[in-house]
Amino acid sequence: MTLVILTQTEQKHLFEMFKHLTRLGEQYPLAREEAMTALRCLKAIHSNAIEDKRVDRIFLQVLLHGAGIAEKSHISIEYQKASVELKGQDYMLKWLESEALQNTELSISMLLEMHRMMFEDSWAEGAGQFRQSDVKINLMSHKPPHFSQIAQLLHQQFTAINESLFSPRPDSEHNFSETLNLSARAHYLVANVHPFDDGNGRIARALGDYIMLVRGFYYDVIMTEYKDHYLDSLEECSLLDATPLSNFLKYSYLETLQRILGFFELVSKGNNREVGV
Ligand SMILES: Nc1ncnc2c1ncn2[C@@H]1O[C@H](COP(=O)(O)OP(=O)(O)OP(=O)(O)O)[C@@H](O)[C@H]1O
Ligand SMILES: [Mg+2]
Repeated sequence: MTLVILTQTEQKHLFEMFKHLTRLGEQYPLAREEAMTALRCLKAIHSNAIEDKRVDRIFLQVLLHGAGIAEKSHISIEYQKASVELKGQDYMLKWLESEALQNTELSISMLLEMHRMMFEDSWAEGAGQFRQSDVKINLMSHKPPHFSQIAQLLHQQFTAINESLFSPRPDSEHNFSETLNLSARAHYLVANVHPFDDGNGRIARALGDYIMLVRGFYYDVIMTEYKDHYLDSLEECSLLDATPLSNFLKYSYLETLQRILGFFELVSKGNNREVGV
């Protein structure tokens, strides 16, 4: 088992970088929007590739760009399904961005709507529906709860998460850390309960994203390369304590923020030159 935890110094560095990028995002709102789009695209590729190795990332890139053979079903029905779900996922994330601006609370209807948006064009009968039978997670010891408990478990935890989510801490460092903890909690809740027959991983990660969006954070992208660290952290979590996932998210977020830092440096240099600084 390989759990990754940032050192105190790395955590400080993460928070300093977060503050720096937040300031740059406020100064250059168009660049911030571009960075969010870039991260959403990266997320679409990695959130899919982390689960299913059959459609490699290079093909997901083709699908995301709408490139290649126009009618993907002429190649393979499964490939066509991946294409439609990728577009559904992008649509759902954009919808979450707009819901976050309105401070919409987490709810069962929001979760079902997220699932419906992702699957309505590929899996009409299952889109936006909770499972009605037992489900297993491949190669994992965790056994998701009986389907009759899904709604109650989600409802209880959503109420608690909403209470914290909409009362941010005044201390910004504490607020930063609490946001990642809440994101891990929401993410782990869906992963643990596994409310759907399919799509649980992607929806779990998207619900974690939603928490970060409400708090005005940049997206985090869990890279496929870290799949084992990610799964190991989930194995160590419980519904009462998602700290192992939260630690993993900090590790992942440091890399995500490093990825957009260079872009903002380029933007700020270019703008300084224009005004003759
Ligand atoms: N030990 C664990 N405890 C809780 N959740 C876990 C655990 N291991 C994996 N998961 C979650 O389950 C997901 C994989 O389960 P599964 O293959 O059933 O997903 P899925 O419903 O097919 O989702 P998708 O279609 O998005 O891949 C992982 O992405 C992770 O979010
Ligand atoms: Mg699946």
